Amino acid sequence: MGLYVRQDRQGTGEVALNPMQHFHYHRGVLHAENVSLEAIAAEVGTPFYCYATAALRQQYERFARAVGAHGPSAKNHVFFAMKANSNLAVLKTLAKLGAGADTVSEGEIRRALAAGIQPSKIVFSGVGKSAQELAFAVDQGIYQINIETESELDLLSKIASSKDKRQAAVVRVNPDVGAGGHAKITTGSDANKFGVSLSDAERIYVKAANLPGVRMLGMATHIGSQILELDDLEAAFNRLRDTTLKLRGQGLPVERIDLGGGIGVDYHFGDAATVDSDRISGPALIEAYAAMVEKTFAGLDVERGFEPGRVIVANAGVLVTRVLHLNPRAHTTFAVVDAAMNDLIRPAMYESHHEIWPVRQPAKDASKQPYDVVGPICESSDTFAAARMMTAVKIGDLAALMSAGAYGATMSSQYNSRLLVPEVLVDGDMFAVVRPRPTFEDMLAAERIPAWL
Ligand code: LLP
Repeated sequence: MGLYVRQDRQGTGEVALNPMQHFHYHRGVLHAENVSLEAIAAEVGTPFYCYATAALRQQYERFARAVGAHGPSAKNHVFFAMKANSNLAVLKTLAKLGAGADTVSEGEIRRALAAGIQPSKIVFSGVGKSAQELAFAVDQGIYQINIETESELDLLSKIASSKDKRQAAVVRVNPDVGAGGHAKITTGSDANKFGVSLSDAERIYVKAANLPGVRMLGMATHIGSQILELDDLEAAFNRLRDTTLKLRGQGLPVERIDLGGGIGVDYHFGDAATVDSDRISGPALIEAYAAMVEKTFAGLDVERGFEPGRVIVANAGVLVTRVLHLNPRAHTTFAVVDAAMNDLIRPAMYESHHEIWPVRQPAKDASKQPYDVVGPICESSDTFAAARMMTAVKIGDLAALMSAGAYGATMSSQYNSRLLVPEVLVDGDMFAVVRPRPTFEDMLAAERIPAWL
């Protein structure tokens, strides 16, 4: 059962709320907004990612409103963490709503610019920025660079001053409070590579004040991802608040605090037959987070930056796949689908759960049996779900891997020489292929055989 459960209408039991209400059954077929996923599959083939504009818009606006980043004069800013989903059409959708971008490479900065995000709304984070990347960011005149090491500070100052510029920057602090849904996505503990220790932050701050190429404006942190309880975030934010007061006590300016991302989403909302599509989950966590931030930084006159990724896009996307083969065993039936771990690596990498909904709506009372939903890749970790109780599956059926809008397409690869999966954006009753499936010729043309072979 999911995070967000309520008594059902008759009060006889609990039903999961649906955080993906823009994906719903209409005349027995799963739709993204008003577009049938069957219709898209017929045109685009499978597998494909499909994103719902209404869901992107709803989540972005919900978040921006909650943290006080709505409207042109707002002092708080939302920088969408592009690593979660960097498709140009998705970025442009968010840019039109006023979103900035949190980037971690020159490639992401270039994508943000290509999607029409102004440099004045771009933040550059990351533990390993190269000289070339820093120079590129400085040339673009981006809003802020989040510095993660002392050597990066020195390098940035050298590069910017050689261009007669002073780059706005904040120092990323490692508050030694880790959090998140999995050890592999925890970033805020001292054991993690991210940011400088609190005591180093103070020293680096003082040093930066005397460097020619940097304008040190504040601090940043990000302690993990898929965070569902706010205590750790609150503890980390309190440390930033304390450090702000300390630095100010030494006469140093602290104008900006970048609070990172990390807010989790509901991945467990049940199957197609039991979810209550009329009821919506999710907003409560965003509201509680915003209230906690407000309380923690009340009275501290700072501009707040936010870098949400997952919470904006995870439940705005699905990965649609087709069943290729069924392989019955005594304890389960392997349903071999045409999507694989190279298309959506989260289950293999983080043991993550994705609901799997058949595109054809099952009867409410249809019986269930265990399936292992697996891809065609030659590894046992190519498993989307193990012993999942599902209504009967037939070869040729379409199914949607739910909550696949974040860290899905961006983490995909060509492993096993499979073509990168296409992406489709729906808006109302329109849809467009926003990243076409490459051809095998494209794939082969990207490589070279040396003359000596
Ligand atoms: N800011 C920084 C500095 C980050 O490192 C991240 C994510 C974010 C913001 C956005 O975090 P979010 O709001 O999405 O939690 N691939 C993993 C998640 C890795 C997150 C890495 N950093 C997954 O699929 O669960």
